[in-house]
Parts: sequence; C-alpha cells; structure tokens
Amino acid sequence: MSHIQIPRGLTELLQGYTVEVLRQQPPDLVDFAVDYFTRLREARAQASSPPASPPSGCQGLEPSPGLVADENGDSETEDDEDLDVPIPGRFDRRVSVCAEAFNPDEEEEDTDPRVIHPKTDQQRCRLQEACKDILLFKNLDQEQLSQVLDAMFERTVKVDEHVIDQGDDGDNFYVIERGTYDILVTKDNQTRSVGQYDNRGSFGELALMYNTPRAATIVATSEGSLWGLDRVTFRRIIVKNNAKKRRMFESFIESVPLLKSLEVSERMKIVDVIGEKTYKDGERIIAQGEKAESFYIIESGEVSILIRSKTKANKDGGNEEVEIARCHKGQYFGELALVTNKPRAASAYAVGDVKCLVMDVQAFERLLGPCMDIMKRNISHYEEQLVKMFGSSMDLIDPGQ
Ligand code: CMP
Ligand code: CMP
Repeated sequence: MSHIQIPRGLTELLQGYTVEVLRQQPPDLVDFAVDYFTRLREARAQASSPPASPPSGCQGLEPSPGLVADENGDSETEDDEDLDVPIPGRFDRRVSVCAEAFNPDEEEEDTDPRVIHPKTDQQRCRLQEACKDILLFKNLDQEQLSQVLDAMFERTVKVDEHVIDQGDDGDNFYVIERGTYDILVTKDNQTRSVGQYDNRGSFGELALMYNTPRAATIVATSEGSLWGLDRVTFRRIIVKNNAKKRRMFESFIESVPLLKSLEVSERMKIVDVIGEKTYKDGERIIAQGEKAESFYIIESGEVSILIRSKTKANKDGGNEEVEIARCHKGQYFGELALVTNKPRAASAYAVGDVKCLVMDVQAFERLLGPCMDIMKRNISHYEEQLVKMFGSSMDLIDPGQ
C-alpha cells in the first residue's frame, strides 16, 4: 500500500482557516476561503519587506494573516523551512541567544513575519482582561498592542509545573491569567523563595530583554493559565519600544531624588520595566486596607494621601478620610505596604490630572534595594507626622480593617 505523506504545514494552514471560520461565521465558506488565503499569501509576500498595517476588516485588536500557529504555541507558515522564519513558542526548543547583543537603540529592520495565534472571541476577551494592567504593554500604541495580542498563545499549567527554570535560555514572556506561582532563586547552592505571583502580573521579561539566562525559577503552586509571547515578537515590539521609553523618561528619572544614588544603568533598568498610568481628577490610585502590588513615582500632577479616622464620621456615617500629605512631581508613594508587607496604610487620590510611573512589587524589590535606606528613613517620619497632626496615631483606623 502506498504511503500518503501529509505536506508540511497543511495541518496548521487548515487549522488557522477553520478557527477563523468558527470565529467569523461567514455566510459563504468558499468566498471566505478565497479572501482568507489571498490575505495569507500577501502577508507571506511581505515577510521580506516591513510589515504593513493589518488588512481591512481586521480592526484594532483583531488577528490578521501572517504566521499562523497551532494551539501549542507552534508557529509555522506553509513551509517555514523555505522561508527560513523563526519558530517561536515551542516549549521544548531552546533558542540560542549567543548571537544577539542587547542594544535597544539599534534600528533593526523589521523583516520578521508576524506571529499569529488565532483565538476564539472568548479567548480574546480573557486575554485582553489579563493584559489590561500589564505595565510592559502600557506604552505600546494600538497597532503594537494588537500585534502583541495576536501573537500571544494560551498555556495551561499544573501544580508543581516549572514554567521557567533558572539558567535556561529565554523562550517566552508570560502574562498570568490565573493561578499562583512561586519565584525561586538559587544562589550559592541555596534556593529560596523571593516572592509569589497571585493570579495577576507577568514574568519572564529579563532574559528576553537583556539576552541573559533566566534569573529565577517560576513554579506553579496551583493549576493555572498563562498567555505566552514568543521571544522574537517580544524583542521586535517590547524591546524596541523600550528604546523609545528610555528617550522619553531618561531625564525625568534622573531628576527623581530617590533614584539619584543609583548608577545610570540601574536607572535604565527601571525605565525598561515601568509603565505610565494616567488618572483623572479625584480618581483613587490606592485604597487604604487593600493588598499592595505597585509602587508609584509622580511624573506630573499632584497626589493627596488620605487616612481614615476612627473618631471623625463622614456624612454617610462612615469613617472620614483626613488628608495627611500631598505628593508632587518627582516624589513617590505606595512604598510602605511593599516594604512592610502589610495592607495599604492610606489612600491616594489624584488632584487634577495625574501621570505616574508605576513599577510592580517584584521589580521594586529587585531594583530598589539600594534606595531602601532612604525609603526607610522617610517611613520613620510617617508616625511622627501622624502624631503631630492627630495627637496620637491611635485615632486612625488600622489599615488591615
Ligand atoms: P527571566 O529572568 O526571564 O525569568 C525569570 C523571571 O522571574 C524573571 O525574568 C522575572 O520576570 C521574574 N522575577 C521575579 N522576581 C525576580 C527576582 N527577584 N529576580 C529575578 N527574577 C525575578
Ligand atoms: P502604602 O501604605 O503602600 O500606601 C499609602 C501610601 O501613602 C503609603 O504607602 C505612603 O507612601 C504614603 N504616605 C504618606 N504619608 C503617610 C503617612 N503619614 N502614613 C502612612 N502612609 C503615608
């Protein structure tokens, strides 16, 4: 009996088409196929020229044709060997990093074909929800964000599964949709837990940004679900965007008194992982009593710090919030709960329009160690400040309540 060989790429090609049919439910499958495969061929032709904006019909965050990938994160064109395109997203494949030096200012030619993992509407909603607070995505424009979301793929994990092993080469960046994860660092043959992720956040950016081996091991401590972004897309979009971020924030970061004692390279590492957030007049930035996840530096505007009083009631019979401090451009807030590992001690509100640079707790711990003395010294004045204002800090609601 003759053996029928399935041409390379056929399965993925038909899978991509099928997913699009299921998503878009077109009235005519043949017309839709002509349109779909024509766009796919155009995208392939563009693989050797800079990518164009998504074809019409693919607005904003919709996926557009390019490099289609299967459910496991494997990406192939119809014949990836002929095109010599990268195949990101394979968990079992190590990517060699030796040849690439880190230079975010380099204007590499953007010739890589776009990676696209087709998604159902439901998957796309879950992905957008998981990514809405990811700081590394905050400074991307609409088109860049759309390309990033197109390229992301879902990965579910079991308890005790190692998502990343310290020392490995970096393959993907991960955004957490759900699940808890331990961060383990081995130094001098001793492994210790340096933190956890609790159903939010992201990890795996360092090896991809700086071409270094993985700096920590990430182990799932529950079942979980992650969204991966392959190394090639991460470098093409996020690392390139970091060069822009450095130019935008370099002089401001240099002017922040807290960060003055850091080396220039340390300050640039901060810029690489921060995200910019904007708040409208009166918007609450931090809520007293909540679990802390971020640290803030005011880029523009003013922030009022308020604390709930036990004795003063507001008009609704609740505890009145009393202003205890005002913070201005170049100042920071939100460090206390991160340093003490307690709930937020006060609330913070925008006064007028406010822009803040925001850092997650993991980056805060990793990068701001050298500034810890200054922060602790300032924290020691908080109690005095409260006593001066209220006679006794006993008048104030315990933030844990
Ligand atoms: P990367 O080195 O690519 O892989 C391990 C990831 O763990 C790392 O990127 C960070 O995203 C994350 N991480 C969180 N906390 C730390 C830490 N204290 N040291 C190193 N990596 C950390
Ligand atoms: P955190 O407790 O994380 O969130 C509220 C922030 O308000 C707190 O960190 C400090 O950065 C800031 N803050 C300013 N003055 C005070 C104060 N007297 N007591 C507590 N927090 C203060």
